[in-house]
Amino acid sequence: MKKRVVLIISGRGSNMEAILRQTRNGILRDVCNIVLVFSNRPDAKGLVVAQSYGIETACIVSKGNKREVFDREVLDFLAPYHADYLVLAGYMRLMSPVFIRAYPQRIINIHPADTRVFQGVGGYTWAFEQKLKKTYITVHYVDEGIDTGDIIEQRELNLRGLTTLKEIEKQGLTLEHKMYSEVLKKVFENKK
Ligand code: GAR
Repeated sequence: MKKRVVLIISGRGSNMEAILRQTRNGILRDVCNIVLVFSNRPDAKGLVVAQSYGIETACIVSKGNKREVFDREVLDFLAPYHADYLVLAGYMRLMSPVFIRAYPQRIINIHPADTRVFQGVGGYTWAFEQKLKKTYITVHYVDEGIDTGDIIEQRELNLRGLTTLKEIEKQGLTLEHKMYSEVLKKVFENKK
């Protein structure tokens, strides 16, 4: 049975697009259907990209809304889609417990750092400023904390020879795009 997946974004959506590609004619083709791309920001560029793939999109504006009120509204909106998994791809908003409890171990996120060492936004900037020789990309389940959920898989990003933040981000995103679909495939096939 193919898993029903909602992709949740806030911005550019390059990870989302990588997943859409793999779902259309790559490694995710036989394992999942993307039933919706959802954004909390109406100006998220990823919404336009998703539409160009023929995927249904929706937005509920989070700005100015109390977290729990917003999350309840989103939960109600998502319910009819009967998603097996919610996959966060650059979703820049903390989810309240009410949300997490509705999808226990069924919300997955990608984080551009080792979640055991660095949480929150700006993972690549942190690695750059710390002058790290290597960092990690983490795919993890989302729990009630900030980037504290169970780690599904981590991959090393070698930073040697990368001298600017831009270079780090470019290499990092290349790894994210490859890794996310590969890890999701294992999860959706119940091999993780
Ligand atoms: C990615 O680097 C992702 O790992 C990061 O935001 C970027 C989104 O890019 N996520 C976080 O920092 C979550 N805490 P994208 O919109 O092009 O996929």
